[in-house]
Amino acid sequence: MARPTPTNNEIEVKSVDIVVSKSDEEGNIEYANPIFYNLSGYNKRELTFAPHSILRHPDMPKVVFKYLWDELKKGNEVNAFVKNLTKDGSFYWVLAYVRPAYNTDGSLRNYISTRKTMSKNARKTIEPFYAKLLALEKSDGVEASEKALIELLDGKAFNTVMHVIQTS
Ligand SMILES: Cc1cc2nc3c(=O)[nH]c(=O)nc-3n(C[C@H](O)[C@H](O)[C@H](O)COP(=O)(O)O)c2cc1C
Repeated sequence: MARPTPTNNEIEVKSVDIVVSKSDEEGNIEYANPIFYNLSGYNKRELTFAPHSILRHPDMPKVVFKYLWDELKKGNEVNAFVKNLTKDGSFYWVLAYVRPAYNTDGSLRNYISTRKTMSKNARKTIEPFYAKLLALEKSDGVEASEKALIELLDGKAFNTVMHVIQTS
C-alpha cells in the first residue's frame, strides 16, 4: 500500500474517545476498536495484521519508538505522545499508554495500546520538542536525539514526565 502524503488536516480526538489496539510481539495489529478504524480511515481488512507503523507520521522522531520498544521488551509500560498519519494524509495527536499483557503461563499474550486525547498544554510542549528531536536525528543521528530526550527527563522517569506534561 502506498504511503499517504501528509497534509495539514488535523482530526480531533475527543475527550471521551479511547482508541484501542492490540498487537503481536512485532507490533502487527490483532485487534482495533471502532474509533481506531474511524480515525485512521482504514477498514478492518486493511488493518488486521498490518504493522502499527502503517500509522507512522514522518514528524515523529525515531527515538520515541526506540524508547517504546526498548521498554516493552523489558516488560515495562510506556506513556508516549504520538502523532499519527491517517489513510487520507490527515493527522491526529494522542497520548498512548502501551503495555504488555501476559498469558496465565507467563508468556506474552500481546501488547495493548490505549490512546486518549492530548492536552492543549502538552501539545505546546511536545510539538516543538519533537521537531527539535527530528532535526537532531537528521543532522546528528538518533544518539543525539536520545541525549536531548534524557536532558528533558532531567533524571526523572519517562512516564512521570509525560504525565506531568499532560496534566500541567
Ligand atoms: C501496541 C502497539 C501500538 C502502537 N501504536 C502505534 C501508533 O499508533 N502509531 C505509530 O506510529 N506506531 C505505533 N506503534 C509502534 C510501531 O510498532 C513502530 O515502532 C512505529 O510506527 C515506528 O515504525 P518504524 O520502526 O517502522 O519506523 C505501536 C506499537 C505497539 C506495540
